[in-house]
Amino acid sequence: MSDTPSQFRINHVAIVVPDIDAGLAFWRDALGLPVGERKRVAQEAVDIAFLEAGEAHLELVQPISEDSGIAQYLAKKGAGMHHLCLEVDDIEAAMQRLRAHGAQLLNDTPKERDGIRYVFVHPRSTGGVLLELYELPR
Ligand code: CO
Repeated sequence: MSDTPSQFRINHVAIVVPDIDAGLAFWRDALGLPVGERKRVAQEAVDIAFLEAGEAHLELVQPISEDSGIAQYLAKKGAGMHHLCLEVDDIEAAMQRLRAHGAQLLNDTPKERDGIRYVFVHPRSTGGVLLELYELPR
């Protein structure tokens, strides 16, 4: 074992639901996870509720328009796990390494929201899980 801590940490797991309040009835009320922020992310056309699970979060994601990517996902696949998000130190380096290994990225350059830079990796490359990578602001 190396003394160097892994650069990778689970930031969040996102679960798509048709109704956040119904989702909270399980994750908050039955299971007992503390709820953090609830917010609307207009650029993704979703409402989100964050639940705290140790140092990571669960995000319940509810589409608020019919034509967003996540609404189409919900219509096609139903509610369930949508993606896993890992933090990386250097998102460009991670993207370059993934490309060199033939992985398919869903955006060519990192997107940005609230100072967080992020990219998605196609489930085809990961064994069936949509993967998001985060580079947090320093
Ligand atoms: Co995410």
